[in-house]
Order: sequence, then C-alpha cells, then structure tokens
Amino acid sequence: MKRLVMATGNPGKVREIRQILGNYYDEILSLKDIGLKVDIVEDADTFHGNALKKAVTISKLVDCDVVADDSGLSVVGLDGRPGVYSARYSESGTDEDNNKKLVEEVTPLDEEGRKAYYTCDIVLARNGEEVCFAEGKCYGVIITEPRGNNGFGYDPYFYLPEYGQTFGELDPDEKNRISHRAKALMELERKVNEAHNNI
Ligand code: IMP
Repeated sequence: MKRLVMATGNPGKVREIRQILGNYYDEILSLKDIGLKVDIVEDADTFHGNALKKAVTISKLVDCDVVADDSGLSVVGLDGRPGVYSARYSESGTDEDNNKKLVEEVTPLDEEGRKAYYTCDIVLARNGEEVCFAEGKCYGVIITEPRGNNGFGYDPYFYLPEYGQTFGELDPDEKNRISHRAKALMELERKVNEAHNNI
C-alpha cells in the first residue's frame, strides 16, 4: 500500500494534491487525517528551505512519502518582498493588514516596479530526505484597488493582464489550472512519473 501524507492543514491544497498525484498513491492523507499535530517554524529564508524543513520533519515521523509546499508573492520594485514573509508581512499577519501594507509600498512604484509573481515550491521527502523538488511561478501586476472576492491572501490585488482579471475575480477552477501551485504540482507529477517508470 503506497501512502502519501501532505504536510498541510489547508483543505484546498490537499484537494489539489489528491487530484494530481492520485494515480501514484493508494491513499493521500492530510496531517489532520493521521492525527498528527506538529508546530514547524517556517524560519528559512527561501521557499525551498521552508518546504524542505516541513517535508523532512514530517517524513521522520511517518512511514511513507510526504509532500510540503511553501509559497508567497514577490514584487519586482520591492526587491522581491514580501517573498518568504508573505504570510506575516504586516505585524498582525491578517490578509487585510498584509494587503494594506502591500498597497502602501506599491503606490509610489511605476508600472515596471509593480510587476509581481507568486512562487510555489514543493518538496517530496522520504525517511528524512528530499526525494524531489518542483517550483511553479505565476506572473502578474499589483493593482492598488481590490477586485473580486475569490481566492485568498493577496489575490484581489494580483492582476493578470492576459486574462483582464485579478486572481480574486478569476474562476477558481481557472486559477487552479494556471496558478503557481498548479504549475509546481504539474512539475512534481512529471518527476514522480519519471521516478515511477524507473522502478
Ligand atoms: P503558505 O505557503 O501557506 O505559507 O502561504 C504563504 C502566504 O503567501 C499566504 O499566507 C498568502 O499571503 C501568500 N500566498 C501564497 N499563495 C497565494 C495565492 O495563491 N493567493 C494569494 N496569496 C497567496
């Protein structure tokens, strides 16, 4: 029986992982499903470092494969901020305060400086070691007036010129096809498939 544990409590992420890696595992479970509560401090200075820390830590506690991800928003004119600090950009760390700070910092920037991208890094680990790593990016522009109620976090301010919509306006299924997380998961699937065919 091949089992995969997803090192997240986020039901949306578990659903996406189930859809994409379902063919390679008999069972895909969240930390909640297996009753594991671990507090892992995301203190690395890269997305990869945080995903690695989560995946490796959990994989030492369970007897199966583990995937963990870390993601965030980088603004070109802010030297890549908020980046790995996206979840705790403002002091309170609420979406509302994070977005307020983002708008304040982006307002003086020109069009070039407002260019931004989401990054998602995913690590697959087994027995305390990284097995493979995948990264996805999604490019857009930060706007200063929110648009739409879909998505979460910075989505109402993340505008995709080729769609004429923000992630907050885009249909959720469409977001799941083009997002940084979707791209990272597709790359992970390719790598898992390669490894699967080489066994
Ligand atoms: P984490 O990967 O769950 O630690 O998320 C880090 C933070 O990045 C989130 O709290 C959001 O602020 C931001 N973020 C990551 N992905 C997205 C997204 O798809 N939409 C909006 N915000 C995101």
